[in-house]
Amino acid sequence: MSSIYIHIPFCKQRCIYCDYHFVVSKKKEDELINSIINEIRIRKDYLKEKKLSSIYFGGGTPSILSTHLIKKILKNIGDVFIVSKNTEITIEINPDDINKKKLDDYFKIGINRLSIGIQSFDDEILKSLSRSHNSMQAKSSIEIAINSQIKNISVDIMFNLPNQDLIKLDESLHSCFDYEINHLSIYGLTIEPNTVLHKKILQNKINKPCDEMFIKHYNHIADLCQKMGFLNYEISNFCRENYESNHNKNYWLGNEYLGIGPSAHSFNGISRRWNVKNNSLYINWLNNNKKYYESETLNKKDIYNEYIIRRLRTKKGVNVEEIENKSHKTFFLKNIKPWLNHGYVSNEAQNYFLERKGKIICDKITESLFLI
Ligand SMILES: C[S@@+](CC[C@H](N)C(=O)[O-])C[C@H]1O[C@@H](n2cnc3c(N)ncnc32)[C@H](O)[C@@H]1O
Ligand code: SF4
Repeated sequence: MSSIYIHIPFCKQRCIYCDYHFVVSKKKEDELINSIINEIRIRKDYLKEKKLSSIYFGGGTPSILSTHLIKKILKNIGDVFIVSKNTEITIEINPDDINKKKLDDYFKIGINRLSIGIQSFDDEILKSLSRSHNSMQAKSSIEIAINSQIKNISVDIMFNLPNQDLIKLDESLHSCFDYEINHLSIYGLTIEPNTVLHKKILQNKINKPCDEMFIKHYNHIADLCQKMGFLNYEISNFCRENYESNHNKNYWLGNEYLGIGPSAHSFNGISRRWNVKNNSLYINWLNNNKKYYESETLNKKDIYNEYIIRRLRTKKGVNVEEIENKSHKTFFLKNIKPWLNHGYVSNEAQNYFLERKGKIICDKITESLFLI
């Protein structure tokens, strides 16, 4: 099972919380797409398995590109990898980019999954986050999407946002259920250093969301999703049966993936590699055969740590039989014990997975299981 991730580093405007790599000017669009295509060709042998189970256009805002450019990228992937009708092809799309023609065109070029960045259906919240859409556009975009030929639709929602009480969160979740969305990615706000949000919190212009609210929100989300028949297959991801994202699953299972574009990460089981986080340097270095990435080879300890980080977030959890090194296995069993005894973690045979209260402090539990 292998995947390709394509990073499209353009956005219409800067959301105050975001520290993903993007620029708000599309001046270098053509050059960048040519470099992306160049990189696809250069790295055609990166994945052991040529047959792709998923392709994911993320960003930034990939839906900002004209569809012919997405088509051009897909064609070049198809020239050097094996894309079948079973390959999940997702594009992240912002509500204000959605219209019927665009989705018809996406369907025609093979896109079969949409990930819509709604975040909230509340105008006040959307405005305070500097999102480029409003609640009307959020609703109409979903209506257009569910009536399109693309049947696999996911929605991104954020929680623990400034001024977001439980009622506002509940309304947003219910809107998704009313539209019968089958997959939800629900993220607690992270305050990233050097973002506008971070500065405003430091200046006391925005109240810092608190842990207590995080717990309240997360419990509400988990209860409601469970009631609606959604599986919590990864901490932040919920879906109806058979609607898990192949792309996400590949990543959490530790399968290989090829990341293309500025700032994109790749993993082939042995090493990790990350591209330069700057559009001009990416274009320039790639086109002049200069090294445009950094990489590290993983040692046994890194492989164990990465396995724990990924797997503990999943429903299935950590399978001790998959920890190859005997002393690492002993270390894991010793360190998981207190969490098991206090109900943060449960196990079924060899699988150890987080309970609800464990999910809330996932980072703390993961850290306690790390080999330093
Ligand atoms: C990088 S964005 C790209 C998708 C698209 N540009 C959008 O904004 O909808 C992917 C998702 O990450 C989440 N996200 C981005 N920054 C975040 C933050 N600081 N805290 C929590 N979630 C965040 C949002 O839910 C967003 O939909
Ligand atoms: S959240 Fe999405 S739209 Fe907003 S700045 Fe980040 S990548 Fe761009």
